[in-house]
Amino acid sequence: MSAFQAPTGTRDVLAPESAQFATLVARFSRAAGLAGYGLVVSPMFEDAGVFRRGVGEASEVVTKEMYLFEDRSGRSLALRPEGTASVVRAFVQHRPPVPWKAWYVTPAFRYERPQAGRYRQHHQLGVEAIGTEDPDLDVEVVALLAGFYEAVGLTRVELTVNSMGDSACMPGYRASLAAYLEAHEASLCDEHRATWSRNPLRVLDCKRPACVAVRAGAPSLSDALCGPCTEHFARFVAGLDALGIAWRRDDALVRGLDYYTRTTFEFSALALDAAQNAVGGGGRYDGLVERLGGPAVPGVGFGSGIERVLLACAAERVAGLEGPGLDVFVVDVTGGDAARDLTSELRRAGVAADRAFDGRSLKSQLKQADRSGARLACIVGPDEEASGVVTVRWMRKDAGGGGSHGRQERVERAQVAAAIAGWTR
Ligand code: HAM
Repeated sequence: MSAFQAPTGTRDVLAPESAQFATLVARFSRAAGLAGYGLVVSPMFEDAGVFRRGVGEASEVVTKEMYLFEDRSGRSLALRPEGTASVVRAFVQHRPPVPWKAWYVTPAFRYERPQAGRYRQHHQLGVEAIGTEDPDLDVEVVALLAGFYEAVGLTRVELTVNSMGDSACMPGYRASLAAYLEAHEASLCDEHRATWSRNPLRVLDCKRPACVAVRAGAPSLSDALCGPCTEHFARFVAGLDALGIAWRRDDALVRGLDYYTRTTFEFSALALDAAQNAVGGGGRYDGLVERLGGPAVPGVGFGSGIERVLLACAAERVAGLEGPGLDVFVVDVTGGDAARDLTSELRRAGVAADRAFDGRSLKSQLKQADRSGARLACIVGPDEEASGVVTVRWMRKDAGGGGSHGRQERVERAQVAAAIAGWTR
């Protein structure tokens, strides 16, 4: 065993799995670009206050899971546990014209108990759209995420939605929930018996049987919504219906971060274990920009965990995420000049090409060609060199160019790159 291992709850992603990771990012970038979202890249760490104030002092992400440190000048910093608060901080700092529509791909750090699908460093694809409370924007971001899952090939995802009200109706609901919880305090789970008063909504999110049982009789959030919130939600779900996006309302979907107002939503992968099956989630945060020192500007967005999406793809046996792979492996037993020049020519012609190094034997290079998964091998031996040709060998059934597995053909050295570019296109 090597002296150092990746820290608990983190993992190294190597090829070919990393190719799936890259495919997800590429498909998300395309989906976001098609909807008018521009990439935002912001720091992995922020003043800890960004998350304390943004995500909320009562959320577990802040109280239990944040990676906090002091830098050498004594500043209190935190590794980002999520993307929204830092993207909103960037919005407040730069004040781009609204609506501002941004997408991102970022690692996120949470000191959680590691298990399958739950890591201390995970990666999120997300968008934030800031500047309007129009519910059609909520529809747009949900449709973007639904379209992304479809483009990836997932078919068994379920969308749950809810509304958390606004500053007009939420305080009243919170008070009636608090009164109910006070009366049922003894029946709550150990943790929430001690902490429910700090943020009663967290009890709605608790998965422990004791809290689930108490919740059954709790006041209903949907009944407590004010007129404008009810209308907002109605327009939101009508938009989902119009776009053919199936949804289910869950009155207890309050999400784990404290900034949400009105719309909340979550996509669950039915192929995964219920405990870790949220592949993406988000909602509105109409007070967050102001809380981080900006004007009273509303916003909505989501984050989707790359690792969870890949687990869901594996569970659904989604194929084709690894990309096309290598087209050609060049085998050169004449000293290496041919391998050097031919791989360069092939790559310039848009053909994915690799080669062996260190002047290995024919047998060893062919073995490497086989292991590489390349569709074709280009073999250059003394005979080919003397005749100005290359032997092209079809390595796989699906190699293209009309060749079947095992077929060989001698192609003029001068024509080989163009010919292969034509076959593999
Ligand atoms: P979140 O629900 O905390 O929301 O995280 C978003 C997604 O990240 C989850 O649905 C899940 O797929 C993935 N995820 C979260 N924690 C872990 C973990 N420990 N290991 C693996 N995957 C994980 C947010 O972070 C919000 N910023 C989303 C948002 C954007 N709301 C509005 N805008």
